[in-house]
Amino acid sequence: MSRQIIVGNWKMNGTTRDSKALVQAISGGVKAEGPDVVICPPFTQLSLAASQLEGTSVRLGAQDCHKAASGAYTGDISPAMLTDLGVSHVILGHSERRQGHGELDETVREKAVAAAKAGLTPVVCIGETEDQRESGDHFDVLGWQIKGSLPDDFSGILAYEPIWAIGTGRAATTEEIAETMVFLRQELVRQFAENGKKVRILYGGSVNNENAASILSIPEVAGALVGGASLKPDAFLSIIHAAS
Ligand code: G3P
Repeated sequence: MSRQIIVGNWKMNGTTRDSKALVQAISGGVKAEGPDVVICPPFTQLSLAASQLEGTSVRLGAQDCHKAASGAYTGDISPAMLTDLGVSHVILGHSERRQGHGELDETVREKAVAAAKAGLTPVVCIGETEDQRESGDHFDVLGWQIKGSLPDDFSGILAYEPIWAIGTGRAATTEEIAETMVFLRQELVRQFAENGKKVRILYGGSVNNENAASILSIPEVAGALVGGASLKPDAFLSIIHAAS
């Protein structure tokens, strides 16, 4: 069985001082035999984090990238600019970008293609709103998001993040996660055949040091995408240590 993967999404947090201390604490606390660990600081801290992580097993991720290789795209960052810094993963289609920046499934898919072409591992996020879950439409929504956001030859990571569980302290229950994981795997295989069997699926949404062990032991959960708790070294290290 392959190692689980714990991804820390710092979102828009991290001055140079904070980032330096956080990277140091995390890289110092990670054990060689543990899961794969990826931290995703904001763009402004990637370069410094890359130099701090040199020689450690902790990998570096970004929180977004553009679909173009270069050009007149003010304010954007290309996949090649990320690999140039030593970045190996990129989060794409996070609900905060879908909602706050109007990113559509198609944009996410184009970014995933560009990221993979540049040698990055895309971590593509999908997830339903609370209304969609309550009305029982969540599986339809997730199926459409998979169809729209993942390229046919996708070989990256899929992150299931129910929007209602993000930053709320109310993680999905183990039953809800287990049932959704079964659905996601079936849907991946239905849409992408053999390729769909290989996609690794993470859970994200209020993962913390207390619920990590039970979430990470659910079948099909290949790891976690962690927001708030990834900014607290002790909590993030406990989550890492709860993974296999
Ligand atoms: O990408 C991680 C995320 O959206 C979950 O955030 O703070 O609920 O762990 P949080």
